Amino acid sequence: MAGWTPAWSCSASPTGARSLRQKSAGFSTVTASGDNRRVAQQQSRRRAPFLGLDSREMILFGLVVALLGSTVGYVLTAWLGSAGVVEGALIAGCAVAVAVFILLLVKPSPMPAKKVSSHASLFFSLYLPAIGLVAIASSSDFARLLPYLFWYYPLLAYSKFNNVGKLGELLERLMIGGPIILLLVYIVAHSEVLEPDLLGIIWAAVVAHTAYIILLDRLASYREALADARARAEEIQRGAETLRQNESRFLKVMHEAGLGLGMIDMDGRVAWANDTVTGWTGQGTIISRPFTEILSDQHRQSWPAQVRLLQGGDIPRIQFEWTVEAQGRRRIIESSFFLARPTGTLPGGIIFISRDITDVRELDAQLRQSQRMDALGRLTGGIAHDFNNLLTVMLGSAEALKHRFGQETEERELAEIIEEAGERGADLVRHLLTFSQKQMLRPQSISAASLVRASILLLKRGLPESIELLTNLDDGDWQILVDPAQFESALLNLTVNARDAMPASGRITITVVALRAKAGESGSVSGDQVVVTVSDTGEGIPPEQLARVFEPFFTTKPAEKGTGLGLSIVYGFVKQSGGDIQIRSKVGEGTDVRMTFPRYCGHI
Ligand SMILES: Nc1ncnc2c1ncn2[C@@H]1O[C@H](COP(=O)(O)OP(=O)(O)OP(=O)(O)O)[C@@H](O)[C@H]1O
Ligand SMILES: [Mg+2]
Repeated sequence: MAGWTPAWSCSASPTGARSLRQKSAGFSTVTASGDNRRVAQQQSRRRAPFLGLDSREMILFGLVVALLGSTVGYVLTAWLGSAGVVEGALIAGCAVAVAVFILLLVKPSPMPAKKVSSHASLFFSLYLPAIGLVAIASSSDFARLLPYLFWYYPLLAYSKFNNVGKLGELLERLMIGGPIILLLVYIVAHSEVLEPDLLGIIWAAVVAHTAYIILLDRLASYREALADARARAEEIQRGAETLRQNESRFLKVMHEAGLGLGMIDMDGRVAWANDTVTGWTGQGTIISRPFTEILSDQHRQSWPAQVRLLQGGDIPRIQFEWTVEAQGRRRIIESSFFLARPTGTLPGGIIFISRDITDVRELDAQLRQSQRMDALGRLTGGIAHDFNNLLTVMLGSAEALKHRFGQETEERELAEIIEEAGERGADLVRHLLTFSQKQMLRPQSISAASLVRASILLLKRGLPESIELLTNLDDGDWQILVDPAQFESALLNLTVNARDAMPASGRITITVVALRAKAGESGSVSGDQVVVTVSDTGEGIPPEQLARVFEPFFTTKPAEKGTGLGLSIVYGFVKQSGGDIQIRSKVGEGTDVRMTFPRYCGHI
């Protein structure tokens, strides 16, 4: 819905993300935050590039530098002759070992970078003290120790950021302790040459060593914090994304559920509502408008008291049926209202869930009506049957009496009056039997349009000039199975009713259309059908009378003008022919009577 931002929409702050996660628990797509963060931390530590190099390139870079260093070192010591045989061999051995590590990394199926890294680190953490000790043993010159001491520092930094776990810790300790041990060994081994200047240098080296380790630690914890923050940001981003998806899924469900959903704020205004509600009210957006505006008078008056009861906890929900009129359609809505107490940053209000029960109510009414008509039909049929037996006796006796008395006697005249009344009674009984669908029918397979065409003259004869009779007959020559005489009598009944509803002037339209069954449907009534409609532009029928017009003897006409049997006869005939009849009317606009007959494809 345009402009609608739910009060609980996404917030980018960490706290916001946490509370959102709780709210989306129903969709359970966000995993436990602790685990998430650990995984993300590890990922970002592994992924964190150093000088734009990934871990494999970094090891390679380090090893190449080491190879160059040891090769140059070897060449220099050999050239200057400053190192002994063992030291020279160790430097050469180092160059070979480093070359092997490089090969392991670059060969066609290389060893994993992590493995080469830990092997190389272990090698150097053992190699450096070893060669340092050899240097101490071979010379008292402190400068001889320096090339090996310096190697510790890049190695220490490399190992700190790349070797994790127990091995990482061990290597770190070896590299922190290595220079100290070498210095101590040097001091003990060459105490005789220790001059104050040299001691000062050693002292400065120890201070620098300590400062370097502290600095490195700081750097590591900064990197850790950075990784942590990055992991957290990623987690929040993932949470927000999941939440956004959940929210759009929820909104989709909300808008397409066919239910009217919404919330009323504490001031009684609509805070939000889905499109279904807006569609019902037909008043454009109802957001921010007082909710009572869309209620009917009756519910508007009782609304404040009900809300008080709800807020006071006296009732768990407010529930009622109400009607809205929009686009000329009256809908019956069933609504339930629940209290939503404020939580955290979310304001409280009243949530409502509503559904349109117009169709349900209409179906109910139709069912009740057809049950009523069935019961009435059975009753009428029973009475008519017994009455018919009595009339047969009466008519037979009147006939016998007629023959006993001579022509033009008063007795014969009385017998003829009895006979006449008996025949009128028999007519009435026939009508009642038609209504109760017990009439003897002589059905034929015939086109409804042709039947209407054949009846036009007869129908017109009963209509004044002020009433126009139009036809629209297009049944594609589909056949229906009906008694032609009864069909004509039904049309006559309907046009007479239409005529009576248009005392001044008006128009009657008889329409016949062929209605093809929708795909998937079968059976006679829901299959192909022929629909015959008689419409007029008369005064219409008030809703309270509409439900009763098919009842026998229901009439609004004076006694001499109507018996109230016309529509009951039509009803009985249509039903007995396997069809259906419906009447729609609007006061002041007119009435449509729609008869539906199943298409007949057999032969009679
Ligand atoms: N086309 C119509 N327009 C307005 N009201 C109608 C129409 N058709 C039926 N009615 C109402 O329904 C009532 C019942 O109709 P129905 O045909 O059963 O009896 P009737 O016309 O009163 O008498 P009868 O047909 O037996 O002479 C009518 O009295 C009238 O109030
Ligand atoms: Mg009538």
